[in-house]
Amino acid sequence: MTTAFLQCIEDGCHRKHTLDRKDYRCDACGGMLEIGYDAPRVAPQALRQTWQSRKSSSAIEDQSGVWRFRELLPFVPEGANVVTLGEGHTPLLDVPRAGEWAGGVRLAIKHQGNNPTGSFKDLGMTACITEAAILGSRVTVCASTGNTSASMSAYAVRAGMKAVVTVPAGKISAAKLAQALEFGAVVIEIGETFDDSFRLLRALTAELNLYLVNSLNPFRLEGQKTIVCEILEQRDWRVPEFIVVPGGNLGNVSAIGKGLRELKELGLIEKLPRLVVTQAEGANPFYRMVANNSAELIPVAEPRTEASAIRIGNPVNWKKAIRAIRATDGMVESVSDDEIFAAKAALAHDGVGCEPASATTIAGIRKLVASGKIPRGADIVAVLTGHQLKDPEISLRRRSEADLARQRLRVEPDVNKLRAALERVLASD
Ligand code: F0G
Repeated sequence: MTTAFLQCIEDGCHRKHTLDRKDYRCDACGGMLEIGYDAPRVAPQALRQTWQSRKSSSAIEDQSGVWRFRELLPFVPEGANVVTLGEGHTPLLDVPRAGEWAGGVRLAIKHQGNNPTGSFKDLGMTACITEAAILGSRVTVCASTGNTSASMSAYAVRAGMKAVVTVPAGKISAAKLAQALEFGAVVIEIGETFDDSFRLLRALTAELNLYLVNSLNPFRLEGQKTIVCEILEQRDWRVPEFIVVPGGNLGNVSAIGKGLRELKELGLIEKLPRLVVTQAEGANPFYRMVANNSAELIPVAEPRTEASAIRIGNPVNWKKAIRAIRATDGMVESVSDDEIFAAKAALAHDGVGCEPASATTIAGIRKLVASGKIPRGADIVAVLTGHQLKDPEISLRRRSEADLARQRLRVEPDVNKLRAALERVLASD
């Protein structure tokens, strides 16, 4: 029998709490909580085989790239239904041209944009909405820069719960707003930034008994941690030298760090990859904290970047994230918006698109290779967190006049004019 509990992450505390608390703060010291387990040890080879064999099962829990690894998620009681949309099992693809562009590294991308609602959030959402259902919650809420709102709305409606989202007014992608509305959520536009909308919502969750699914919810991170099982399985359990991930609220890097730690404890891997977080220059409080060797994070009051997903000035998970960086001898890099869009264009040469936040990874790798912090030839997995179609207006705006003149043509509806246009296209290189 495995027992699961919530546990304080603060050194010197580590107090355990029952799973049904909803404020995710330690009673003793106010620290953040994470899920802990007292689990029987299973032979690593047996676990790998169980996970592998589920791939040929037709049960939806076995097809989900989260629940296929359910031995790592034992907070769900035996026999309980999980709320799933078949998330995960996303491709790990070599991107040789982008690797060359980044300075000559062996680069693969794990594309989390290929999830049901278009981002990595679905991995965490299946886990925390399943937990919300176990607790009998009726209303789920989140503050969001876009992806979380779409993801929560989909899983909540599937579970028969009401969904309410707060977003910064006029600042989220129309594609994400449309998704949340289509899934029946109520969307409240409030405040200038994600941080404003999150702070205001958090003030009311306990009073109104709302189930908050932002990434301070430790069940979210449990779902998100399974990405490391997929990456390692897809590499026949060869550990890469680096895993690179964008940082906003810093939930994903914390989840990946926890997943790696657990796989090592279970004997599934022997060494850890180095984790690298990339942030946008105008919203980089974590980068600054690490670069200045500070003990505390100083929020950025007015976060700015066209990568709307990571326009966050006061990341809630920084304490978990710093542990992940330290435990893996990791690094943090910061990149400008121009560098982000150059990286996105480089990736496109491999036939891979992503949202701007995700491209910070490729831009960051290029910078770290240039400064000698990542060696040429390094074996790297970059996590692309979101889908190419999230911010199409920005991508269009960012194309140069010359590219648009060459690529976007308007021709009168006349076959001779069309022939002339096509002949010009065929004659060009
Ligand atoms: N990439 C994408 C595409 C995101 O949507 C987010 C966060 C991140 C990276 C950063 O991940 O917060 O775990 O460090 N988006 C949130 C949202 C905040 O509301 O959708 P993180």
